[in-house]
Amino acid sequence: MIAPHGGRLVRRECSGEETEELLRESEELSSLTLNDREKSDLELIGNGAMSPLEGFMTGEDYRSVVDCMRLSSGSVWSIPVTLSAKEGDPPVSPGQRAILRDPDGLVWGDITVEDVFQVDLMQEANKILLTSDDSHPGVQYLDGLSGTYIGGAVRSIRRRDSESFPEHRLDPAGTRELFEKKGWKTIVAFQTRNPIHRAHEYIQKTALEIVDGLLIHPLVGATKSDDIPAEIRMRCYEALLDGYYPESRVVLSVFPAAMRYAGPREAIFHAILRKNYGCTHLIVGRDHAGVGDFYGTYDAQLIFDNFEPEELDIVPLRFEHAFFCSRCGGMATAKTCPHDSADHLFLSGKKVRAMLKDGIMPPPEFTRPEIAELLMEAWGSRI
Ligand code: ADX
Repeated sequence: MIAPHGGRLVRRECSGEETEELLRESEELSSLTLNDREKSDLELIGNGAMSPLEGFMTGEDYRSVVDCMRLSSGSVWSIPVTLSAKEGDPPVSPGQRAILRDPDGLVWGDITVEDVFQVDLMQEANKILLTSDDSHPGVQYLDGLSGTYIGGAVRSIRRRDSESFPEHRLDPAGTRELFEKKGWKTIVAFQTRNPIHRAHEYIQKTALEIVDGLLIHPLVGATKSDDIPAEIRMRCYEALLDGYYPESRVVLSVFPAAMRYAGPREAIFHAILRKNYGCTHLIVGRDHAGVGDFYGTYDAQLIFDNFEPEELDIVPLRFEHAFFCSRCGGMATAKTCPHDSADHLFLSGKKVRAMLKDGIMPPPEFTRPEIAELLMEAWGSRI
């Protein structure tokens, strides 16, 4: 089994007794408010997916990640994992313990504050997202923050009663145990924030020809408003697996992270977290974690060349842009198809949304009919 990043799974979830105690203490301690992204990050720190992180980053780790793509310990890490100070929350200082709540007041954990530091958010945008253009959803997110971050070790509470997709919610220890039980030595992870279309299916199945198992790991944390909601996508994944995938070789489980749309840097982040879930390979296709025209088609693949293979350990499986070719009569890429683009079907997400809105069923060359029907029914009426 592949070792977690940093050597061991660092879990920061409270045990049953600790949870009771934390809930009792929450009535007396100061509280800090988590936004959706921070709530997702807390869960991922708690369940070990963010190993070796023990909490939200201090200034030292933050600066090292932003400038050098490494934690201050030297381990590769590409995305800041931060808690921002919110208007209306009490000020906190190093040494203090505070409760972490969502905007509805529900307690999700606590933090022992180590550092309170100011940052230049547009510098963060330029380094991490490679732009400060406010049409980028990640820049819009940063634009809404205060510019003060609070770093320190956290503990999280697992609130099973308010988790989405409980039947598909394995934490890293859970996926590792399952892979072990299945006897899989090589496992490829598939990150996605979209319903699976034929190009996704093609690259997954191409990968499945050479590894033992596939983890379909859809991101279900916050996404931008025009991405298809996770509830609809999950129904699509289930229908697709039922009809087109060998049950014994695929696992569907959610990845409760928020999307950053950071392209190349986020691909590295996705790889590290999937390694923590026990995966040996990650599919990185065209414009992985990208948005609009902010990144080059293969930038998210090229960034892996900046690191020694043993630093990441998980192997990126790089795929070219896949499409349906009418002359080949199947899915292909420029590596396998000699025909020109007039024979290739490519539909952008925007175009598909427009088709759904007009009641036009996306063609089977683009997506399986079961998925097209589900999307028409569930999403078409909303847009
Ligand atoms: S992402 O933001 O999660 O990367 P998406 O769900 O569209 O978006 O993509 C999931 C994975 O499939 C990514 O690795 C992406 O690069 C890859 N991918 C998406 N579409 C294609 C395509 N037509 N050809 C090759 N790879 C693709």
